[in-house]
Amino acid sequence: MNATPSRSCHLQHRPRTVRILETVDQASRTKSLTFRDELAAVATPGQFGMVWAPGKDEIPMSLLPAGAYDLVTIVVKDRGEGSRALLRKKRGDLIGIRGPYGKGFTCTGVKNTLMIGGGTGAIPLLGLLRALAQRRVTCSFVLGARTSHELLFQDEIGRLCKETGGGFNITTDDGSAGTKALATDEAVKILHTGSFDRVYTCGPETMMRTVVDLSKRARIPAEAGLERIFKCGSGICGSCCIGPYLACKDGPVFSSETLKELPEWGKSTRDASGRPVIIRSS
Ligand SMILES: Cc1cc2nc3c(=O)[nH]c(=O)nc-3n(C[C@H](O)[C@H](O)[C@H](O)COP(=O)(O)OP(=O)(O)OC[C@H]3O[C@@H](n4cnc5c(N)ncnc54)[C@H](O)[C@@H]3O)c2cc1C
Ligand code: FES
Repeated sequence: MNATPSRSCHLQHRPRTVRILETVDQASRTKSLTFRDELAAVATPGQFGMVWAPGKDEIPMSLLPAGAYDLVTIVVKDRGEGSRALLRKKRGDLIGIRGPYGKGFTCTGVKNTLMIGGGTGAIPLLGLLRALAQRRVTCSFVLGARTSHELLFQDEIGRLCKETGGGFNITTDDGSAGTKALATDEAVKILHTGSFDRVYTCGPETMMRTVVDLSKRARIPAEAGLERIFKCGSGICGSCCIGPYLACKDGPVFSSETLKELPEWGKSTRDASGRPVIIRSS
C-alpha cells in the first residue's frame, strides 16, 4: 500500500479554500472541477480529499492530480445534496479541501494488470491507469456503466490501455455502448485469457465482491476501493468502520487478503447515523 506522501505531513488536515479554474461536463449529470492545491496534487491513485461545498456539506472525492502546476481534478456525479452543491459550482467559485487521505492502490511489483471499474469507480482507476502506464505496466480495463451516457473517460482509458499493450472492453446494462452485459460478465472471460498479476476494482460493492471472488478463483491478488460514510476522513470519528478497520485510514483501498476477513464486505454498510444497512445490487 502507498503511504500518504510525507510532503503533506500533518498539513493535509488543514482545510484550504481553492478557486475552481475549470469545469467540464464528463457524462450525464457528472462534471469535473479543476483547481490548484499543492497538497492534493501529490495524492497517489485511490487517495481522496474531503471536499467542502460551502454552506452545504463536506464529502469525500477521489483526487486526480494533473501531474503539473499543482492542478487537481475531482469528478462529481449527481447523487444527492452534497454532490449537487458541488455540481452547481462554476469557474471562479470557491470550495474547500482537506487531504489527501487514505491508502491508495499498490502501484509497484506489477507487470500485467486488469482493472474493472463500474460507474464512478472509473475515477480512481483512471488515476491508477495513468500512473501504471507511465511505469510501462500493461493495463487492461473493463469499463462498465448502466448506459452509454454514464460512461466515464472512455477515450483516455482506451488510449492508455492501447499504449500499454492491454485490452479495453466496455459494457453497459442496456447495450447502448459496448457489450450488453455486466462488467463482471466480461471480467470472467478476460481473467482466463491473460496472465494478470493483479486485479484492481472500484464501483458498486456487489460488483467488487464478485470481482474479488473471481480473482481469488483465478489465484490473482486483487485490490478494491471501498465507499463508506466519511465524516472526519482521517481516522477519528469511526463513521467509516468496517470490521476492525477504518475505511478512511486503513483504506479506502483494501487487498483481497484483508477483505476476506470481513464478513460484512459486499453485504452491508452503514448509513450516516451508523446504522447497518444491507447493500442491494443495483
Ligand atoms: C473514498 C471515496 C471516494 C469517493 N469519490 C467520489 C468521486 O470521485 N466522485 C463522486 O461523484 N463520488 C465519490 N464518492 C461518493 C461521494 O463522497 C458521496 O458519497 C456521494 O456524492 C453522495 O453524497 P451526496 O451528499 O451527494 O448524497 P446524499 O445521498 O444526499 O447524502 C446524504 C447525506 O449523507 C452524507 N453523505 C453521503 N455520502 C457520504 C460520504 N461518502 N461521506 C460522508 N457523508 C456522506 C452527507 O452528509 C449528505 O448530506 C466517494 C466516496 C468515497 C468514500
Ligand atoms: S471517517 Fe472518521 S474515522 Fe473514518
